[in-house]
Amino acid sequence: MKIAPRLPHALAASAGLCLLAVSPAQSSPASTPTTGAGSTAAAATPNRPARARTHADTASTFTPPAEKDIPQGPMGEMIRKGLAIFVDTPTHAGDYVGDGLSCSNCHLDAGRRPNAAPLWAAWLRYPRYRSKNEHVNTFVERLQGCFKYSMNGKPPSADAAVLVALQAYAYWLATGAPTGVDLVGAGFPKQGFKPPQPPDYARGQQVYQEQCALCHGDTGQGQRVAGRHVFPPLWGADSFNWGAGMQQLDNAAAFIKANMPLSRGGTLSDQAAWDVAYFMNSHERPQDPRFTGSVAETRKRYHATPMSLYGVEINGHLLGSTPTARRDNK
Ligand code: HEC
Ligand code: HEC
Repeated sequence: MKIAPRLPHALAASAGLCLLAVSPAQSSPASTPTTGAGSTAAAATPNRPARARTHADTASTFTPPAEKDIPQGPMGEMIRKGLAIFVDTPTHAGDYVGDGLSCSNCHLDAGRRPNAAPLWAAWLRYPRYRSKNEHVNTFVERLQGCFKYSMNGKPPSADAAVLVALQAYAYWLATGAPTGVDLVGAGFPKQGFKPPQPPDYARGQQVYQEQCALCHGDTGQGQRVAGRHVFPPLWGADSFNWGAGMQQLDNAAAFIKANMPLSRGGTLSDQAAWDVAYFMNSHERPQDPRFTGSVAETRKRYHATPMSLYGVEINGHLLGSTPTARRDNK
């Protein structure tokens, strides 16, 4: 089974892509919870992810079930609907989308890939306190947040069919996973991921031109075929807005280091990943939907962190002061 982005073959070939196949479901994932004092290193604690027991037992991350094992019947239909929404959000949930992205552009391999905020891990992490909005968030609220910010759209209401389907898909992906622990590969690997030197625009620009522009375009606009993005936009009107997780440098750097250039994740140096994240997020994008009317005030309230460049002046331009228009997806 493979889940691959919708790449035109010619482009894929020219970029030297070998699209990654998802590892097949395994019968005994190492993250299976173990109990009892004798079970040594495999035991997970609330703050420590479950670890592989031995070197032979290499699967240190949870492996979700294979797509062919989606059950029949109404539940199976709902799971498939969630999968369809996840990999082609504008087509299947267009009313709630205001940019050119799909969920799976950032949550790779249809939400399966470890270190790209996989859905199976996310399902188990909620309810969860988030400093972003200073309360305990349900899973539904977390999904709504991704529509509002990452998709620059309108969040579906809590009982909307779209959210039922996405929950069904996430729930099913987490089949057999232990609850109460953060699984290896959950979220983006940003813990302790720091640049050796402060990130730099000029260096980031060079990385971008050499390693990213081929797919994402000279001006970060991505590439479309027949009106649809085959390579997603990184900034500008069709990209995620100033409130999204990806505009935070640590999230972007960790995502890029682990996953980009596509199919060559892990090849950039830490410095290059930070530099190119800085370069990407030094460009305008749609306004933060929490905008108060003043960039300075919005920065103070929602971006008071060195990880956000919103309200920061770069190359003589105050970021957030000329946001790109929201895209009309209809
Ligand atoms: C532009 C990239 C991007 C897009 C598109 C995107 N997300 Fe996310 N998503 C993120 C980032 C960044 C995070 C935060 C991860 C972190 O803080 O570790 C996140 C977090 C999440 C989480 C919580 C993950 C966790 O482990 O706590 C869920 C669930 C989620 N997104 C679902 C969705 C859904 C559903 C869609 C489509 C409707 C979507 N996302 C679209 C970037 C994106
Ligand atoms: C070979 C083509 C290719 C190259 C080169 C490449 N990307 Fe990507 N990138 C993609 C594709 C395709 C996706 C969406 C993945 C999916 O849908 O499965 C993506 C997704 C992304 C995303 C999340 C989605 C979004 O639009 O925000 C970011 C951020 C990103 N790439 C940054 C980079 C950076 C930075 C580089 C250079 C270091 C880079 N990419 C190089 C093809 C590429």
